[in-house]
Amino acid sequence: MPAMPIRTIIEPFRIKSVEPIRWTTRPVREQRLMAAHYNLFLLSADDVLIDLLTDSGTGAMSTHQWAAVMEGDESYAGSRSFDHLRRVVQDIFGYKHVIPTHQGRAAERILFSVMCRKGHIVPNNTHFDTTRANVEFTGAQAVDLPSPQGLDPAASFPFKGNMDVAGLENLIEHEGRERVPLVMLTVTNNSGGGQPVSMQNARAVSQICRRHGIPLYFDACRFAENAYLIKQREPGYAEKSPRAIAREMFALGDGCTMSAKKDGMANIGGFLCTNDDLLAQQEKDLLILTEGYPTYGGLAGRDLEAVAVGLEEALDEDYLRYRIVSTAYLGEHISSAGVPIVQPPGGHAIYIDARAFLPHIPPAQFPGVALANELYLEGGIRSVEIGTLMFADAAKMDLVRLAIPRRVYTQSHIDYVVEVILQVFARRRELRGLRLTYQAPFLRHFTAQLEPAWQ
Ligand code: F0G
Repeated sequence: MPAMPIRTIIEPFRIKSVEPIRWTTRPVREQRLMAAHYNLFLLSADDVLIDLLTDSGTGAMSTHQWAAVMEGDESYAGSRSFDHLRRVVQDIFGYKHVIPTHQGRAAERILFSVMCRKGHIVPNNTHFDTTRANVEFTGAQAVDLPSPQGLDPAASFPFKGNMDVAGLENLIEHEGRERVPLVMLTVTNNSGGGQPVSMQNARAVSQICRRHGIPLYFDACRFAENAYLIKQREPGYAEKSPRAIAREMFALGDGCTMSAKKDGMANIGGFLCTNDDLLAQQEKDLLILTEGYPTYGGLAGRDLEAVAVGLEEALDEDYLRYRIVSTAYLGEHISSAGVPIVQPPGGHAIYIDARAFLPHIPPAQFPGVALANELYLEGGIRSVEIGTLMFADAAKMDLVRLAIPRRVYTQSHIDYVVEVILQVFARRRELRGLRLTYQAPFLRHFTAQLEPAWQ
């Protein structure tokens, strides 16, 4: 008799080095939260038990990455480690110029400084907060064009990260091609719920851009997860490798920005790519001004090595299967108990719909912050609000994101997270809203101070 196939999906690694985590009591957490002005960004990480604030730069590196770190060439100019990174990036992304930066937002700042000015409009399926801020900092306007399905958290559509193609066409016709210096497509769509963009949608966006002569750039932070979700969900891609899918997608564009802190599997790093020689020259000039020489761009040679190896590991199918299945595991366990989440589970995070979870708290009283704070008080879990505190009036939803660091937490950590969320869900009617007592002029969520609205 043939053996039954084994269905349990396990972490595709064993653990060689461990980092203790620290328990606190609820009274201690209450005191810490008050001292942090009810803003989880202002906590000391030592007071957090399970940190799901972000999947950015928080992953565990592999033995191969650590070995590559020792191979880092720290030469100021012409470093061998830069050649390694450029070779890997060109192989996956296919763009001519590779400009290293210390993280994604540095690539954004350089790209938008060179391409945008006042009066310009930059469309994106959904700008991430730093992307929006960097566009706006040049005086240009950042416009989100998510597909209509992307705005309904409960709708289960496979590619809710898509751009609204008709909306893009309208915007270009209405505002004029000369006002749109570039179009951005964010894969996966982080602020829109970690949802993937389909190849079909990327192709349609690319065709519109080509017809109007507008460059298309990818915000490629989670390109490997997006490629795997295309493989799983889009007809015609089941037999293709994530690498082939990624290459096909990037060939539709003219360049990209990348935070290697996500699918670069590194703790720091990023890059900017373009096929345009003139732009590349201007970008490198700016890079030298603030980031560093173009063969290191603000990174150590060892960081360039870690990213070069990490990009390859992010495309490994065993890793991607585990990554996507383990994220879905959290989503399915809480949603089957009634917790409203953005459906279907995406790549790097589960997003709780805080407006549906806490219908008695109006958006102006930050339901996402109220929920995130309670998850901390209940079980020492740190998550992040993506909603009215982060985006003010531009917020279309109030979400709480539980981002999963890569290769860090095991299934039992996630079982604990599920239990804490369900306990808070059971007594959700007791939760109350908050009000702001301090805000910065931009990116206010990082430093905002709040207080309970009922005091
Ligand atoms: N674009 C997207 C889609 C992102 O998610 C991020 C970062 C960036 C750009 C900027 O990259 O942090 O390297 O400068 N997202 C992190 C997060 C911070 O928590 O989602 P960075």
